Amino acid sequence: MPSVTRGGFSSRIGFILAAAGSAVGLGNIWKFPYEAGKNGGAAFLVVYFLLTFLFCYPIMVGEIAIGRRAGKDVYGSYKLLGNKNWGLLGLLGILCGIMILSFYNVVAGWAFGYFLEISFGNLLSEPDYGKFFGNYVNDFWDNLLFSLGFMAITAYIVAKGVKQGIEAASKIMMPALLLILLLLIGYSLTLPNAMKGISFYLLPDFSKITLDTIYPAMGHAFFSLSLGMGALITYGSYVEKKQNIMSAAFTITIMDMSVAFLAGLMIFPLIFSQGVAPDSGPSLVFVVLPSIFKAFGPVLGKVVGGSFFLLLCFAALTSTISLLEVPVAYFVDEKNVSRQKVTWLIAAVIFIVGLPSMLSQGVVPAFNKLHFYHDKTALDFVAEVFSELCLPLGGCLMCLFIVLRWGQHNMSKEIYEGNPGYEGSFLEKYINFTMRYVCPILLGIFSILIVLDKLFSVTLDDLTGLLGVR
Ligand code: TRP
Repeated sequence: MPSVTRGGFSSRIGFILAAAGSAVGLGNIWKFPYEAGKNGGAAFLVVYFLLTFLFCYPIMVGEIAIGRRAGKDVYGSYKLLGNKNWGLLGLLGILCGIMILSFYNVVAGWAFGYFLEISFGNLLSEPDYGKFFGNYVNDFWDNLLFSLGFMAITAYIVAKGVKQGIEAASKIMMPALLLILLLLIGYSLTLPNAMKGISFYLLPDFSKITLDTIYPAMGHAFFSLSLGMGALITYGSYVEKKQNIMSAAFTITIMDMSVAFLAGLMIFPLIFSQGVAPDSGPSLVFVVLPSIFKAFGPVLGKVVGGSFFLLLCFAALTSTISLLEVPVAYFVDEKNVSRQKVTWLIAAVIFIVGLPSMLSQGVVPAFNKLHFYHDKTALDFVAEVFSELCLPLGGCLMCLFIVLRWGQHNMSKEIYEGNPGYEGSFLEKYINFTMRYVCPILLGIFSILIVLDKLFSVTLDDLTGLLGVR
């Protein structure tokens, strides 16, 4: 029996906004545009949309169904519907939540710092943003302050509970985010050369679609939808039986894709208006954009730049909330401790776990070049192992859990509640088929490729070369 005190979402829209908030994050606004910029604009977009609908949507449905059936945290859910061993998969999810939040919060802290420095400081008078960013991520005290601040805001919201904290915050931040995004798009479309940016973004160059495009698109889709570690099992456990899981998951997916798409519409005209190369990678948001805001002059620059980074903070915050909720729900459900106390404690622990990532941009040389990990930074290490590798792996194992242990008929039964029309529908057959055959195989292969790539530096190119495919 779920305890009365564990809380729940009060409405359909509350759940959808919270879950969409989890999905919409730095992944959409920071990462998606630069991935698209690097991988052939609209070609990447098309692949990304297809993968999301064909393979990620069924996984999302599966996660929500597990959570709602069990009515428990991710460990409790796997244990209740499976057994103690399957519970280990839940523990892996919790570990991923902790580790992903530990580095995600560092990047969110940068966004938070930039927001404050643009709005209230004089970031816009800097001569060289490449240098500025380098110094900025190297500044111990700035980083400490801003990432601590961001973690504290996250913990404050999660400590208030599912309805009063997570749902209430999402109901404010998600519409605000959309409004800021639309205003910024409206503005950037009026800039000179805006249409050049739009055509770069929207005219697909299908010659760029190779296995190497599909591969990052798949990883990104998974991360962007918050799949693979039970964030949606946890949120699903707070959903009422009368809700329609299929349509909720569909809405969440559409919202996530729309925000990613719109972020591109906002960013590419900005970039082209200043004649900057669209494929500058991760530094796009922190190096290229500030110089563009600066060119707008002190007042307009503050308004547009400040709004942009506020947008980024809102997006990040609804995501950090969902990441923190996963371990918090575990302690509340399994150990019966008070949400208030345990939330602050876990947030503090995760903050400490994130210190190496925070200090990895140069402050501490040992974290800057990990000898056991191809001399990459601690932040890269945590991001690659716990999100790029463990999420697809977690997704693969979740499919196996549904097919081999819980039973696909039980998953279907859970979906019928709130959606009687699902019974016998084409959609049901499609979901069952992909869940049994396509997703586990695809995600399994994908996980192996990631291990080869990240741990052994063997890329897809090398493999296809070996096989003589190219
Ligand atoms: N989806 C978020 C983004 O795009 C990140 C995120 C939040 C996440 N919660 C998650 C990723 C859970 C994986 C699992 O930025």
